[in-house]
Amino acid sequence: MSGMFFSDFRTIYWREGAVYLVDQSKLPHSLEFIKCVSYREVCEAIRTMKVRGAPAIGAAAAYGLALAAHNSGARTRAQLIEDIKKAYEELRSTRPTAVNLFWALERVLRRAMAVKDGVEDVKKAVIEEANKIAEEDVEVNKRLGKIGAQLIDDGDTILTHCNAGALATVGYGTALGVIRAAVEGGKRIKVIATETRPKLQGARLTVYELMKDGIPVTLITDNMVGYCMYKGMIDKVIVGADRVLADGHVINKIGTYSIAVLAKTHGIPFYVAAPFSTFDLDSKVKDVIIEERKPEEVLCVMGLRIAPEGAKAFNPAFDITPPEYVTAIITERGIIRPPYEENIRRILSLSAWS
Ligand code: MRU
Repeated sequence: MSGMFFSDFRTIYWREGAVYLVDQSKLPHSLEFIKCVSYREVCEAIRTMKVRGAPAIGAAAAYGLALAAHNSGARTRAQLIEDIKKAYEELRSTRPTAVNLFWALERVLRRAMAVKDGVEDVKKAVIEEANKIAEEDVEVNKRLGKIGAQLIDDGDTILTHCNAGALATVGYGTALGVIRAAVEGGKRIKVIATETRPKLQGARLTVYELMKDGIPVTLITDNMVGYCMYKGMIDKVIVGADRVLADGHVINKIGTYSIAVLAKTHGIPFYVAAPFSTFDLDSKVKDVIIEERKPEEVLCVMGLRIAPEGAKAFNPAFDITPPEYVTAIITERGIIRPPYEENIRRILSLSAWS
């Protein structure tokens, strides 16, 4: 199958001093880009989840720094670096869990600091680095997709959770990238997508993307996963990640852990598709901040109140899946299998982190 809409679609790009981002909050009803002309607008877009998904957040933040540099009135290199650092701090505080945010910001800041020449050279380098991060994201996802497609059999029905697709990245997607690559390779694949309460990324985004590409998809509510597995309706699970730790713990959208436990009980392979930029080799599981969002997201559905006035709600946005539930992690460098501590170290050579 070729000519899929989302094979070449870019969700984030830089043009003439502005950053354009798909407004994911408007989907599936309309596909619109927001134009950001200041880094504060990018902060707002990340905070309000107009742009969401770990790699997309990383690329957007990198462009946020590009805007800060581009708009700076600094006369000296030192002043410009101060302006960039200020934006860096604000962008860092937009969301706490997806490590791509910190990875991308660090990378752009390091590039800025490495330029020892004048203001214009630093500005140029920062914009260049942000563009590079965005371009690489698509290349990496395509590579990861091809590698992961080897795990997929013709005729498989694959369950995915949340949206780890083109929309969650700059293009092509991670978990959905594997599915796209399998379909492009001629395999007949069906997808079951969980709706992903409370923000409905599965219903609104994954189903939209797959339908647009003509890949058969069926939507279920989050609490139907066990039944579908029990009925033998699911051959494999593939999800994305917001952070993968050195020991193989996977932090991803709330609900992932329950799916992983169910998959193990039913003998269904549970795969995580994650690029190198999502790995955090430094943190321990206790160090990871799981974002807690407003109770209103649980108390309401698409703005409509569903619980009685005064009701309390708990709203962790992510959960942690221990390594024993993960069959393999698909990366752009290859497929990593347990024991993760050892095999992650081997595949992600430490030089790539410097
Ligand atoms: O809160 P979100 O929508 O930003 O969470 C997104 C996820 O959990 C995705 O599964 C993850 O970022 C992988 S995206 C390739």
